Order: sequence, then structure tokens, then C-alpha cells
Amino acid sequence: MSAKPQKTYTATAALLASLLWLPISLHAQGPAADSTAILRSAVYNHPVVDSQGMVVTQNAIASKVGAQILASGGNAVDAAVATGFALAVALPRAGNIGGGGFMLVYLSEQNQTIAIDYREKAPAAAHRDLYLDANDEIIPDDSRFTHRAAGVPGTVAGLHHALINYGTMAWTDVVAPAIELAKAGIIVSSDLADNLTRAKRRLGKNQASLKKFYKDNESNYQVGDLFQQPDLAQTLERISAEGPKGFYTGRTAELIVADMQAHDGLITIDDLANYQAIEREPVHGNYRGHEIVSMPPPSSGGIHIIQMLNVLENFDLNATGYGSALYINRMAEVMKYAYADRSVYLGDPDFYEVPQEWLLNKTYAKEIAGKIVAGKATPSNEILPGKPDNYESPDTTHFSIMDSKGNAVANTYTLNFSYGSGITIPGTGMLLNNEMDDFSSKPGVANAFGLLGDTANEIQPQKRPLSSMTPTFVFKDGKPWFVTGSPGGSRIISAVLQQIVNVIDFGMNSADSAAQPRIHHQWQPDRLQLEPGFSPDTIHLLEAMGYDVQSVSRTWGAVQNIVSHNGMFFGGADPRRADAGALGPDGLECLNNTVACRLP
Ligand code: DON
Repeated sequence: MSAKPQKTYTATAALLASLLWLPISLHAQGPAADSTAILRSAVYNHPVVDSQGMVVTQNAIASKVGAQILASGGNAVDAAVATGFALAVALPRAGNIGGGGFMLVYLSEQNQTIAIDYREKAPAAAHRDLYLDANDEIIPDDSRFTHRAAGVPGTVAGLHHALINYGTMAWTDVVAPAIELAKAGIIVSSDLADNLTRAKRRLGKNQASLKKFYKDNESNYQVGDLFQQPDLAQTLERISAEGPKGFYTGRTAELIVADMQAHDGLITIDDLANYQAIEREPVHGNYRGHEIVSMPPPSSGGIHIIQMLNVLENFDLNATGYGSALYINRMAEVMKYAYADRSVYLGDPDFYEVPQEWLLNKTYAKEIAGKIVAGKATPSNEILPGKPDNYESPDTTHFSIMDSKGNAVANTYTLNFSYGSGITIPGTGMLLNNEMDDFSSKPGVANAFGLLGDTANEIQPQKRPLSSMTPTFVFKDGKPWFVTGSPGGSRIISAVLQQIVNVIDFGMNSADSAAQPRIHHQWQPDRLQLEPGFSPDTIHLLEAMGYDVQSVSRTWGAVQNIVSHNGMFFGGADPRRADAGALGPDGLECLNNTVACRLP
């Protein structure tokens, strides 16, 4: 196959001119920028600064809960668990107890990073062809908007595991703020009102969701209304009183299973009782003198972030100029190779032997770098997943927290879609995830995020679906320096990659990095997506290189960044989400205005 024909003479000429003009060395090992988190008048976006710690989430109410826990002497894990439960109340589209996720914890005293996997699991009755009809065709929406779409939720087990092993506070004390928010209610923000209005077509199909999210079962919440969640408060009270047993057994479990039985769902009492969060060995890499630590499989994110950084290390990115066509070209080509490998080699490591060493190998990265031609888009059908030598076998939300003792947490958890399956379990106030759609229902048929998969990610009982969630730490001089992560389905991996490159190669602060328009290429479909904010000139240059450029009218992702520098914490909440906020203990003090500071 040949490259896509260049579209216009003008674009081709402009491309050549730009290649001649740019002072770049195409295959040079590039330096890291003089990275700094210091506030400078040279940039548009500034982080929130705090000396005592930092909580950055997609919802300022939850950030405040976390900051209060830090202010009262709790560590980053205490704050993370309280924040996780608070988001389940204040950000119902993605915060959850009915979903699952991943948490990275760095413990400063032990100098150790722990990866907690609380991803949902396929129920025991699930099987490879669960969503296929008698003709082997996919049953539309079966893996997305039905009770059968739900994996066994992991969030409560995961948060509990984190707290009892690495927290310092009592379980009841960290669940309490969420109970209070659910009982007393939250004031509906413009973002929540708007989001619920848009979700009504889907949520309105389920009686319990209609009751929970719309006044008198029908009308939309308005800005300034009080939104209370009494059923959720009761579920949280059972969780508070009994720990995971208050969710995985007893009344909550009975309510979940009763609704499953009434609607052809798969989750049983045994599935719930058997669910366990587990610890896994994080994946490690290094990039221009920084150590990268991220989530291992069943996340694909950590492996591919490190794989892509390994390839990028072969280029001097800084010299291409941030946002230039050549910079985007480099990034997009690297993404294609990683997403191609993802389609074949990534799955739950308890069921499939992921060739991790090979994927993380710098020699393999060099091989990929050697295939990338400056100024050219290699068509995706010419890029095949790599072949390992001697290889034997195949609306999410993120928050970042650092405390003054040097501990850190990066947590991404999800219901999959915004409001998950849209199904609320009656009597629990709890939305059900539709995480089963992250499996490959049929080889060659993409999931909701356009991702392809094969045997490695086929459905099996008790297996965890492959995820793109990528909570990540970057270490500098042996200490956590940058904490990041994002929602966004398949675009999580590319969004997190861009945060790392922004701070390391281009020296951006945490807020500036979060604000930059992002690019995304996932190999298939062979399409380069650009957020709003790229110049038409750049787009023409990219088209001339052979890219099918799709300028997307909406933004994606919601990265939540913290940089720790000189004993201070610099929080950058993604400005794409109106309710997002960065806040630390000093920030709570600044509410009485004795010092100048940025409010969330
Ligand atoms: O685990 C995954 O990769 C997906 N379930 C994440 C979904 C997601 O990020 C949706 N949010 N925008």
C-alpha cells in the first residue's frame, strides 16, 4: 500500500519548507528540557500551589474532602480512599462503588510503589461468545446497556485494601464524608445539571436511574438545586459499618443479585462474595533520566506508555518545537505501533501470558524508531503488531494525591461509559458498570472505544477485561516528582503519554501541561484525531504527510497532574472539566483570605 496521496500542492510545499526550516536532528537522542514547576509569567496556565500536600480531582467537592483529610493528619492513602468515596457521590457519572479501577500507591518510608488492581471481573457464568447470537453476530448493545454488561464491581474491595494496608485512619472516618454528602446533598453545578440533562435519554430507560437522577422521576435538576442520594447514603452506611462485607454480602449483595435475576444478569451471590482486590508488580521504565512507574496488566496503559517513551527517546522531541507538524508526526507514529501491539498482546495476565519484557525492551523500541520516517504517515495497514522472538504464548475519572510525608497516590476508576450501563440497582443508589464491553466480544470487531482485540482479551469466567487506565508516577532523583492519569477510554494512554512528554521534554508546569490541546492515534482506525486548538496550517502540513486528520469538535480526557518541586506541590486540574479542582491543606486556609491563592 502506498501512502495517502498528498492533498494539495500548497500543503506539500509548506511541508517541505517546514522540514528545511526546522533545526532538527531526526535521530538524535534528545535531552530532557530544564524541567521546572516554578511559576513563570512566560506561560498562560498556572498550577495551584501548596506546601502541605495536594489533591487534584475532577470535582472540587471531592478535592476538598481529600484536602481536609490531609489537613487533619491523614496520609495520601487516607485522602485517596475518602476522595474515592466522595467522588462516587459528587461525580456520579464516573465516581463509583459499582465499578472498578487501579490505584498506584507510593510509600515514602518503604520507598516502594504498590499497584492495587480492583478491576471488575467477568462473572463465573460469562463465556467467550456471551454477546454473540446464533449466527455469531454481535447482539447490539448487549455488552453495553444491559445487566449482562456488568463485571463484578471491585471499587469497595480496592479502596478497603488500600486503607487497611497503607492508610492510617479508621475506615469509618474516611467513608463518613461521602455519607454526609449523599445524605445532606450537593448543590447541583452547571456541569452536573447539563450532564444529567444530556444523559436522560439513556438513564431514563431504567426506572431506578430515573428516580435517582431526575426530580419526581421526570424533571431535570437545575443549577443550584439540592441533589440528595438517600439510597446511596444507606449503602455507604452498610459499607462503613461492615467494610467490604457490607457490599459483597448481606443486604447490598442481595439487592444486586435480585436485580440481576430479574433482568437476565449474570452476577451471583458467589461472584460477589469471591471478589478480591489484588496487588501486582508495577511496570518500570526510564525516560531521559526519569523513572516511570505505572500500572501493569490488566491495564495496557503502563506497558504502552513505557514502550512509547522508549521509542520517543530516540528522537530529539524538544527540537521539533511543541505542537509542530513534525512533533505531532513523531507522536502519532509512535502511538500507532503501540496500539497495534495492544490489539494482540495485552490481556489479563492471570489468563494470558503478556510478553511484557519484550514490549518494554529498548531494543524493540529502537527497531520501531528505525521504521518511523520523519514527515511521513505510514498507513496503519502497513503497520502490523510486532513479533517477539521466542515468544511462547497472547466516564472514568482520575485523581492524584501527594502528602507532605512524601507519599503519593494515582487512582483511576470507572463505570466504563458515563453513568456506566445507565442501570441503577434499586434500593442501593448505585450505578452498575458496563465494563464487560472492554473485552473483545469477537475478534476483529472493535469495542466502544474502537479498540480491537483477540484471544488475549476474549471473555472468560472470572477474567478481568483489558483496560487503558494508566495511573502513573514519574520519579526524579528517586522521589515521586510527577503524578498523573486521565479518563478517556482508548485516549487515556495517549493523554498520559503527552503529560509525561510535556513536563519532561518541554518543561511545562502541571497546569500548562493539562491545558494543552491533545492528539490521538490508535492505529485502527487509521485516523489522526486533534482536539480543538491546532492551527489550520499545522493540519495542512499533517495532511500533506499522509494523515487522515480528524479535528474533533469536543475535547477528551481529564488529566489531573501534580508536580512536587522544592518541597512544594503544584496541582494542575484539567480545565476541560468545569468542576475539576486542585486543593491542598494550605488552600483550605486560604479560604479565609490571609494569603493570596487560587481557589478551586
Ligand atoms: O478501562 C478502560 O480502559 C475503560 N473502561 C475506560 C473508560 C473511560 O475512560 C471512559 N471515560 N471517559
